[in-house]
Amino acid sequence: MTAPRTPADGVLADRYGRVARDLRVSLTDKCNLRCTYCMPAEGLPWLAGPQLLTDDEIVRLVGVAVGRLGVTEVRFTGGEPLIRPGLPGIVSAVAALTPRPRISVTTNGIGLARLAPALRAAGLDRVNVSLDTLDPARFATLTRRDRHADVLAGLAGAAEAGLTPVKINAVLMRGVNDDEAPTLLRFALAHGYELRFIEQMPLDAQHGWDRSTMVTADEILAALRSEFALRPDPAERGAAPAETWLVDDGPARVGVIASVTRPFCGDCDRTRLTADGQVRNCLFATEESDLRAALRGGADDDELARRWRAAMWGKRAGHGIDDPTFLQPARPMSAIGG
Ligand code: GTP
Ligand code: 5AD
Ligand code: SF4
Repeated sequence: MTAPRTPADGVLADRYGRVARDLRVSLTDKCNLRCTYCMPAEGLPWLAGPQLLTDDEIVRLVGVAVGRLGVTEVRFTGGEPLIRPGLPGIVSAVAALTPRPRISVTTNGIGLARLAPALRAAGLDRVNVSLDTLDPARFATLTRRDRHADVLAGLAGAAEAGLTPVKINAVLMRGVNDDEAPTLLRFALAHGYELRFIEQMPLDAQHGWDRSTMVTADEILAALRSEFALRPDPAERGAAPAETWLVDDGPARVGVIASVTRPFCGDCDRTRLTADGQVRNCLFATEESDLRAALRGGADDDELARRWRAAMWGKRAGHGIDDPTFLQPARPMSAIGG
């Protein structure tokens, strides 16, 4: 039998039968918060201006993904994507692509109250907002910035602008905010936001992650069950990272993204593009494929598509966090986009 070869045309397939339809594009590695589980207080050595893809380059690459590679979902991430001045223009150019992809943003919510109407008008469909605590003082300690009120205003502004469903991402840390699971859920239910808890992953710039202290999905569910009845969500999960439960018989849901204790790599449909134009076939990939060099070297769309397919063909079966040989990627989460 001959070994499978990189497909010459068509979708972003890999050797394990998965097809990537969901593109996550990081627009910047910078952020206006300094979450302790993500970055050191002083920030990180940021990418230099010329290293970043321009707005036009981003739109061109997303166009290749949508037009030639079968991508149907585009999510903009960071760092913090709202600090990229060209975001509304990028969203409207991507919304004009054929076939039109669904478009979402994952943000820390700062500035969202002001930007939500323009982003909605540009064609943004929905947002996910990170919020780990309802206590402003705790927020200031956790993110090293006193911006809790801005995030709450951002959530409200997004809902008002119709960027729904508005989802909240919360990372629980032992001894920091792990007492807040039911409180966060009550808040989300009261406002109609869909809350998801995320198990902390080994992606912090400081390499301080410790599996033995991580708050697990089982612990999160037990804490929620002390106050709520949870029933498995009958809706099809598909490739979603979040496993969901109906709260007190629904219709509201709560999710848990258990990358570590309940990995979902087998159903992954994601491909990633970094702010400096590198394709990553996995959040935990240790290798990247340089589309920026190809693009700036004059490659045409066929050539860019070919390189993107080849990069995805090499995707590994899973992240291997539990393997003794696991290596944390050189790029931190803030430079990959989550
Ligand atoms: P929805 O379609 O809105 O449910 O999006 P999402 O949950 O995929 O996106 P979001 O940007 O809100 O990510 C939530 C969490 O899921 C973040 O911590 C991401 O890092 C994590 N996540 C997203 N994709 C992957 C993945 O492929 N692998 C792992 N391990 N985590 C992922
Ligand atoms: N593990 C899990 N989630 C993380 N996030 C940032 N760093 C980590 C990590 N090490 C979350 C953010 C945001 C989402 C994109 O990922 O809080 O909600
Ligand atoms: Fe910024 Fe997100 Fe990192 Fe917090 S987790 S510092 S909001 S990039």
